[in-house]
Amino acid sequence: MAEVFRRPHLAAELATRLLRPGVLDEGLRSGLFLSGLRRTGKTTFLRTDLVPELEAQGAVVIYVDLWSDTKVSPAALVHAAFRSTLEELSRPTSPLLGRLRRLRGLDLGGMGFRFGFQLEQLGQAGGATLAQAFTELVDQAGGDVVLIIDEVQQAITTEEGNQMLLALKAARDAINPRPDTPGHFLFLGTGSHRALVSELTARRNQAFAGATSLPYPVLDQDYVRHVLQRLSDAGMAQLPSLETAWSAFVALGHRPEEFLRALAQLETSSSTSSGLQPDQLLPVIAATLRGSAADLELQKVEQIGGLAVAIFDRVAQAEGPARGVFSAEAAAAYSEAIGREVRVEEIQPVVNELLAANVLMRLGHGLYGVTDPFVQEIWRERRR
Ligand SMILES: Nc1ncnc2c1ncn2[C@@H]1O[C@H](COP(=O)(O)OP(=O)(O)OP(=O)(O)O)[C@@H](O)[C@H]1O
Ligand SMILES: [Mg+2]
Repeated sequence: MAEVFRRPHLAAELATRLLRPGVLDEGLRSGLFLSGLRRTGKTTFLRTDLVPELEAQGAVVIYVDLWSDTKVSPAALVHAAFRSTLEELSRPTSPLLGRLRRLRGLDLGGMGFRFGFQLEQLGQAGGATLAQAFTELVDQAGGDVVLIIDEVQQAITTEEGNQMLLALKAARDAINPRPDTPGHFLFLGTGSHRALVSELTARRNQAFAGATSLPYPVLDQDYVRHVLQRLSDAGMAQLPSLETAWSAFVALGHRPEEFLRALAQLETSSSTSSGLQPDQLLPVIAATLRGSAADLELQKVEQIGGLAVAIFDRVAQAEGPARGVFSAEAAAAYSEAIGREVRVEEIQPVVNELLAANVLMRLGHGLYGVTDPFVQEIWRERRR
């Protein structure tokens, strides 16, 4: 059941709001951020629905996933993706160029785009800035350029990433206000961390202050209906009602993978004649799975050790970003929690391990948060 449930209407609506905004949506040109919990289908929606729709509406789209390789800096990933799009457009035979020619009626006399700077030096000292490069791209393409950064919150965890966001803001401000601009530079970011993504638009010292932040539209009942229909087509007899299936999907945090896992368990349990009806059984399975989804992450914390658990707890219990994780007061609380003396110097290496395991993330100077808010929610439920 790996088949993707497509959402063309949603994609068309969002693409139109971005590329041809009505009066009320013009603010989207300052940047749009979508935030949604982990594993709810953000990347899938971007790649299978939104990017093709934006391209069909004539935009040049550059897509970067900052989680594709967390060892490479966010800035380097963005530069690499941008460079590869520019290289593609400078090849006369590239399909991307062919599509632009068709959609925009560009006449390039059999040539590719020609840029007035060295592509290899883009973003390096002495090379073209992102603002110059994006301006040239918008002008040659004669239309909109959309940069999509998946997991954009990753960028604000480092100084270099913050600099890159400022450079993108500079690009936006260099291009969009021109009265006769042939197109706009549009920025779309997504993130799994709602608090962090909102920070990007809310704090005045952030590059994208004033941009719009919206919740990612999670899969709805149509998706659940589609899955049930496919199961019924495949001959599964013991199916739950739409209402029960929908409640299970919601309990599982709107996560397709967990939902399918629950349905698979339902099928096995029904066949072992538990005597329960699917509508009685599925809610039980969903409740159990909901917990085990978080267990995997929480096991990582436990494996690091008792101090890691105490630190994780402090961060998870904080409202908003946790501060003072390394303070003497915190060390005393950890000591109390694990029943032995914790020295302040012991804290940093353990926090580093939690960061490396991607269960905690740095949210700014001295600020930490749980990477996956769903895991945080379940942790808190259990500690109550
Ligand atoms: N529209 C869809 N139809 C069917 N399955 C989907 C759909 N969207 C997502 N999925 C499934 O859900 C899982 C998570 O999807 P995806 O990686 O797109 O989510 P994400 O929110 O980007 O996750 P992450 O937080 O890891 O970046 C994948 O297994 C994917 O196949
Ligand atoms: Mg993703």
